[in-house]
Amino acid sequence: MKATAFAPVNVALIKYWGKSDEKLRLPMNSSLSVNLTKMGTVTTVEWKKALKQDVVSGTDPGRVVEHLNRIRQLAKIDLRARVETKNNFPESVGLSSSASSFAALTLAATAAAGLKLEEKELSRLARLGSGSACRSIPDGWVEWQKGRSDETSYAKSIFTKDHWDLRVLVVLLSQKEKKVSSTDGQVVAETSAFFKERINGIDKKIKQIKQEIKQKNFTAMGEIMEEECLNMHAIMLTGKPSLIYWLPETVRVMQAVREWREQGLESYFTINTGQNVFVFCLPKDEEELVRRLDKIEGVIEVKREKIGKGAKLFA
Ligand code: DP6
Repeated sequence: MKATAFAPVNVALIKYWGKSDEKLRLPMNSSLSVNLTKMGTVTTVEWKKALKQDVVSGTDPGRVVEHLNRIRQLAKIDLRARVETKNNFPESVGLSSSASSFAALTLAATAAAGLKLEEKELSRLARLGSGSACRSIPDGWVEWQKGRSDETSYAKSIFTKDHWDLRVLVVLLSQKEKKVSSTDGQVVAETSAFFKERINGIDKKIKQIKQEIKQKNFTAMGEIMEEECLNMHAIMLTGKPSLIYWLPETVRVMQAVREWREQGLESYFTINTGQNVFVFCLPKDEEELVRRLDKIEGVIEVKREKIGKGAKLFA
């Protein structure tokens, strides 16, 4: 009763920010993301008769045990588990570690318990652990349709990873941990005066960006993605309490991206809850962008990524 799974980090182009049901992690809006190829979490779960309690590590063991409870119930087993998990990137700095962690845990723990769940069921279950985790289950370009209930809120692949060869540069700025988690930040989303406006415009934005992705219009896609990131951060900035996830070096990267764009070197940024920046570009500009990003004061590392598959089990 042992299994190991890998789940990728996913980067949202249209963000999930605000819940209509906190317990079920039902989102206020649908969202859209890409999986990365290399950055992610590897998790091994072993259900064992000899264990008296679950053995888990990491930053939030209670949340992991809660997820194991869901799986115990589903598999109708009364065993405890040993969970070993490894992220190949820094946690709690805005790189969506909860997404890849809960997606990998969901796949490994259900497989180890002998459950063979369909993608939709895995995505739903991962969502209960962390909302954005539901998007790390399917392949490539993924849409999480908000749905109306636990049964109808899950993510699906909308284009394969090979549909469009975009590059994602992950700009690591500081290992400083954020003070307010995504879960806590989302609770106050609705206190922003702009929140309603944001929600009202989201479906139209998703429809538009899907069209641009389908036709591979990089400029139009990038403009929507960057506006959307700032739209979400505007909610964070204007809520009560107000949340500022950026560091000075975050703003430096944002401004550099815009300056280079004016000079004809095209790329677009997006940022989650943290200081690090994801820069999307075409393959032809990757080399030059990495060279320039590396030179910005405060940049620790630039990781080169492509669009990748969803969660998978190791044989
Ligand atoms: C800014 O999925 O971490 O990265 O459901 O409370 O675990 P919980 O929140 P989480 O929120 C992710 C927020 C985001 C945007 C996104 O990935 O869509």
